[in-house]
Amino acid sequence: DRIDWKPDAVELGGHAHYMLKEIREQPETIHDACRGRFRRAEATAQFGGLNMTPRQLRRVRRIVFAACGTSWHAAMVGEYLIERLAHLPVEVEYASEFRYRNAPLDDRTLVFVLSQSGETADTLGALRESKRQGHPTLAIVNTVGSTIAREATGGIFLHCGPEVGVASTKAFTAQVAVLTLLAIHLGRLRHLSFTDGLAAIEAVEAIPQALGEVLAKIEPAILKAAQRLAQTKSVLYLGRDLHFPVALEGALKLKEISYIHAEGYPTAEMKHGPIALVDRETPCVFVAPRGALHAKTLSNVEEVRARHGTIISVGTEGDESLEAISDIFLPIPDVPEIVQPLLAVVPLQLLAYHVALLRGCDIDKPRNLAKSVTVE
Ligand code: G6P
Repeated sequence: DRIDWKPDAVELGGHAHYMLKEIREQPETIHDACRGRFRRAEATAQFGGLNMTPRQLRRVRRIVFAACGTSWHAAMVGEYLIERLAHLPVEVEYASEFRYRNAPLDDRTLVFVLSQSGETADTLGALRESKRQGHPTLAIVNTVGSTIAREATGGIFLHCGPEVGVASTKAFTAQVAVLTLLAIHLGRLRHLSFTDGLAAIEAVEAIPQALGEVLAKIEPAILKAAQRLAQTKSVLYLGRDLHFPVALEGALKLKEISYIHAEGYPTAEMKHGPIALVDRETPCVFVAPRGALHAKTLSNVEEVRARHGTIISVGTEGDESLEAISDIFLPIPDVPEIVQPLLAVVPLQLLAYHVALLRGCDIDKPRNLAKSVTVE
């Protein structure tokens, strides 16, 4: 009922674990996911396999994404991006719920399923249910030749290479990169101007290099942060707007491989419950690069500080206000908001990795989890 990786199929290449190798590969895998998809002359992105004409895509009035786990978090980043750049309503569904619900779909709704493996039973179930109702159903998949890739009516491959670590890392950033390009593509079929489209394309193009800079410098600070978390029982991850799903993904990484309880919340939702948990024993990880709502986030960080909670924050390089109120500051380069998730998630992946390492966990094969869950 589970697909296990073949250890000899992919080499570790000198890294201690597949997860670490896959985290460090991300500048290249994001590049590979985007390769051949930029169309600068028209300030847009292109996809060879959607099997839909521009006219059909322009008729779309609503998008539904169905996925599980990390792919579900990537879909949620996609939701925020498509709303911003293409002004299209998007719903993100857990595939396991969607497949048995009577979710209303009409002929102007476009359904996508997202899956790294292309074999997740619930995601395949969602694809089949949508197709059974007669809707064209597209897939965003990594594994070429997988069941979902074969059964979808069209889609986008991630081209990020085989992912071996059970905790998904490079597939997440490849999904987010591809969804950013999809948002630009859909936006350019609607209201997004040439200038804004070009700025968005250039922002994506610049990510592999910016991520290389993050990876080159950040590990010493991550190690300090990991030492703070290694003995805790529970951690809160907070982010707002595009960084809310990044916070969810950071919390999932920590749970999956270190077995520490972690929860992700929208930053401003903290006051409606989770703040009751905050004390000296409960650290908070803020995903807070500079953006439109930054001043509000800073006051949320202050609230945690007033309750003596440890604060670890991912923020924009040079953001002295955030750094000053954080115990540990994890800087990322100053990039446009729409591409910040691609950088901000990586320190959280490394943080989970180093916490798990300090706790002696089996990082590439965490207990009770499988790389691909082919049962319901
Ligand atoms: C399993 C894995 C997760 C993954 C989820 C969805 O639960 O442990 O890491 O995110 O399945 O997998 P998929 O291959 O469909 O993206």
